[in-house]
Amino acid sequence: MKVLIVGARGMLGQDLMNVFSEYEPIGVDREEMDVTDPESVFKKMDEVQPDVVINASGYTAVDVAETADGQQDAIAINGMAVGTLAEICKQHDVPLIHFSTDYVFDGNKGDPYKETDTPSPINKYGESKLLGETLLQKNTDKFYLIRTSWLFGKHGKNFVTTMIDLGKQGKQLTVVNDQIGKPTWSYDLAESVLTLLVEKRPYGIYHLVNEGAVSWYDFAVEVFQELQMEVDVLPVSSEEFVRPASRPKNSCLANTKFPLLRSHKEALQNYLSTL
Ligand SMILES: NC(=O)c1ccc[n+]([C@@H]2O[C@H](COP(=O)([O-])OP(=O)(O)OC[C@H]3O[C@@H](n4cnc5c(N)ncnc54)[C@H](OP(=O)(O)O)[C@@H]3O)[C@@H](O)[C@H]2O)c1
Repeated sequence: MKVLIVGARGMLGQDLMNVFSEYEPIGVDREEMDVTDPESVFKKMDEVQPDVVINASGYTAVDVAETADGQQDAIAINGMAVGTLAEICKQHDVPLIHFSTDYVFDGNKGDPYKETDTPSPINKYGESKLLGETLLQKNTDKFYLIRTSWLFGKHGKNFVTTMIDLGKQGKQLTVVNDQIGKPTWSYDLAESVLTLLVEKRPYGIYHLVNEGAVSWYDFAVEVFQELQMEVDVLPVSSEEFVRPASRPKNSCLANTKFPLLRSHKEALQNYLSTL
């Protein structure tokens, strides 16, 4: 199986490169194949002739996406580029694996969001990711659309590393306690992607997340407990901790189609032991 991993130097991309190592994947990032430039995508696809494409590229600056320039980039990378990739994958008759987010939902549902629930994003990042989802499904039938959430991983800046850095400064931290989600280790996600492919699961939408719903506050406390760090963490509401982009209150994803991944607590312990 010849695997092309796009966004190979990102947090998820690097874990995918490691997990797929037995297939000797070809990894490309912005320099080798800019997803917003159709010519560069055509050229790389012709050159590599992959059996499957995994798109781990993305624009992930949720707050910057609220600015005019940020929104333009988010639409180009998370939206239009996914449509182009899907179209070219269809021409090559190869499946495209693509990642989307819990932030395509508005957060008003009382229960976790199922794969069949209708997205309704409340910020520009979520809108751009939904555009990508829509164009993907319009342009090809051979797709795995994987929604995931609250990623932490070894190869990128994320909530866990931010908390550790702030915790080391010895100041009191304020963390929101009214946004609930499912933190997910990018390595566990990458392993699930491999299983999905190897087991030839049906194409479609999947919610792949570690289990265990928490608020950002709960998660920060878990991180410090795990590391036995004494940090003063104060729970605050979203109204008290205002940021440019609104966040859904409940962005828990229900995985109803694939064997459940382990708990985020276990994944977190494992992740911290690798740092
Ligand atoms: N992080 C999360 O919490 C989270 C949650 C849910 C879903 N997701 C989704 O999961 C995917 C991977 O996220 P991540 O956290 O691994 O992101 P990441 O660490 O920011 O990695 C994204 C990669 O994409 C590359 N990229 C950006 N623009 C590109 C372009 N025009 N052409 C080619 N490559 C480009 C980036 O390169 P540069 O560094 O040069 O920009 C980077 O290497 C994304 O689709 C994201 O929306 C993430």
